[in-house]
Amino acid sequence: MASTATTLTALAGEKTLQSRFIRDEDERPKVAYNQFSSEIPVISLAGLDDADGRRAEICKQIVDAFEDWGVFQIVDHGVDTRLVSEMSRLANDFFALPSEEKLCYDMSGGKTGGFIVSSHLKGEAVMDWREMFIYFSYPLKSRDYSRWPEKPAGWREVTEKYTQELIALAGKLLEVLSEAMDLEKDALTKACLEMDQKLVINFYPKCPEPDLTLGLKRHTDPGTITLLLQDQVGGLQATKDNGKTWITVQPVEGAFVVNLGDHGHYLSNGRFKSADHQVAVNSNSSRLSIATFQNPAPNAIVYPLKIREGEEAVLPEPITFAEMYRRKMARDLEVAKLKKLAK
Ligand code: SIN
Ligand code: FE2
Repeated sequence: MASTATTLTALAGEKTLQSRFIRDEDERPKVAYNQFSSEIPVISLAGLDDADGRRAEICKQIVDAFEDWGVFQIVDHGVDTRLVSEMSRLANDFFALPSEEKLCYDMSGGKTGGFIVSSHLKGEAVMDWREMFIYFSYPLKSRDYSRWPEKPAGWREVTEKYTQELIALAGKLLEVLSEAMDLEKDALTKACLEMDQKLVINFYPKCPEPDLTLGLKRHTDPGTITLLLQDQVGGLQATKDNGKTWITVQPVEGAFVVNLGDHGHYLSNGRFKSADHQVAVNSNSSRLSIATFQNPAPNAIVYPLKIREGEEAVLPEPITFAEMYRRKMARDLEVAKLKKLAK
């Protein structure tokens, strides 16, 4: 077996998939990575800032999409297209570096950001087929530039600009949701205390026997709201019909995929969905996606901001986000342990 210190890129040329990546049949992809569905709404935000114009109509589309799906795409979002392509180019260049160079930024051992190979993670019953680069971007004090690569040139400026634009865009979407809940515009942002943002660049190398594994296993995001840029390869899959049917999200050039996390779901007392999603990989080409996770501060309180008449609270009591996260991870570990025992 290859040493644990290899990257997946280094394993991409193998003929068969190592057993540690092989999932039980019920967890494998049900639809192909490129069998696209255009069912998920694609919403144009052109005019969102114009109170007298299209704003009301766009807000309705956004609110409907959060209620029906919990995941959708936005176009005409105002983020500079050159900045978006520059960010993608730099991310691709980083992952194209030789394995040893990427491993210089290895994040294992509790470092505050850097490179991770999913197969190096402890506690998983089955490994994902994914490499990542993680960078903590907000609050400003969480930035640790010593963990940021020197190559390719330009990372720091581009990333700073990109994360700043994306946190502002996420804030606009949270305003729409706050208003839809009949709360002050800034209610959801305020409930986060100090908004936290993490940038995760995902790279899924070509995979031998991709039908037996996943790039990223089924999950919901824990935080408030996620914005994801994906390339044109495809592989992001979301559920509909309350988790019964899987669909592959059709890549749309320049769009961001928006999805609500558990924190957003609980704050809305379950009105807005946090959709289960996963990533299918393939043997034809690698895939890149860039996620920004907007999360609350660890000590922010997780509890519905408004409970409508006749409704019950989706949570028995207020807890901190740190505690919510700890319980979610503990449940995942328990499931992984049971799966390992059952093998
Ligand atoms: C994620 O769910 O965090 C990443 C999804 C993707 O790579 O498309
Ligand atoms: Fe996710």
